[in-house]
Amino acid sequence: MNVDKGYVDAPVDPSLDLRAEIARLKRERGAVIMAHYYQRPEIQELADEIGDSLALAQKAARTDAKVIVLCGVHFMGETAKILCPDKTVIVPDVNAGCSLADSCPADEFAAFVASHPGHTVISYVNTSAAVKAVTDILVTSSNALKIVNSLPKDEKIIFGPDRNLGNYIAATTGREMLIWDGACHVHEQFSLQRLLELKREHPFAKILVHPECPRPVRLLANKVGSTQALLEFAVSDEADEFIVATESGIMHELRRRCPNKTFIAAPPEDGTCACNECNFMKMITLEKLYNSLLYMAPAIEVDQEVARRAVVPIRRMLELSN
Ligand code: 13P
Ligand code: SF4
Repeated sequence: MNVDKGYVDAPVDPSLDLRAEIARLKRERGAVIMAHYYQRPEIQELADEIGDSLALAQKAARTDAKVIVLCGVHFMGETAKILCPDKTVIVPDVNAGCSLADSCPADEFAAFVASHPGHTVISYVNTSAAVKAVTDILVTSSNALKIVNSLPKDEKIIFGPDRNLGNYIAATTGREMLIWDGACHVHEQFSLQRLLELKREHPFAKILVHPECPRPVRLLANKVGSTQALLEFAVSDEADEFIVATESGIMHELRRRCPNKTFIAAPPEDGTCACNECNFMKMITLEKLYNSLLYMAPAIEVDQEVARRAVVPIRRMLELSN
């Protein structure tokens, strides 16, 4: 079995019923399949657990399964492995990275932290384990406001790596923060101009925006929130039509939960591309998921010393989210 490419590179018999085979292998291996809402629809449909990044970390921390197959990006697999060092954690393609995590190299972030002593370091969960290891508290977009608000008003804060989420938290909580200059290539792409055009075409539609989007786009929102918060808003709000400015994978769950409502994907700057899709999230396919269960690879490993330090801010986040 060859995993040099970051996934099991083995042929899959085209006559197989992959959904049935994945279900069988999952039972045999004692595995649980977890998927982020940005995964391909067919992966979301097969998952035992589906969630945003906070929910996936919480579910990983609680599961009894011996094996976690995490259909998401690499940092999500690392978080699960750090929380469950004795379990086998598999990400079916470890090339599934994250441009936001990559915008924060651990050595540069550690130097930035060292040059600003006396600050509490808050990092978004979209970071490498090495960045988590120099962090005091982790947050996701679901709990960031609650966690920052729980700190004393005069606490000096470093926030990394997302400048848009950082600016949103600073503006909403009134806290001063030193913010790392990172961003997600998907959420940075939404065009204000095209969103305004769409709103003119659908004047009664409400606009849903993820806080990783830049401020001008956030200012148009009826609701700014994490993937989970946007889903809950769409379910409970009386509007029939929504314009959705976040990764397009969420459309599957929105339409499943609200079959009688209309969801319109907000267009990115260049309407000819699929820039509102996270290419990393879409690297996980049914074939790679099947092979990962068949061969139990590729498994996520985290350096023990890094994991020992990184688990502290992850556990703090989970405690503060309850
Ligand atoms: P949430 O799942 O926390 O909403 O984050 C979105 C995201 O970009 C995940 O990588
Ligand atoms: Fe990372 Fe952006 Fe993809 Fe989320 S959508 S995994 S932040 S690149």
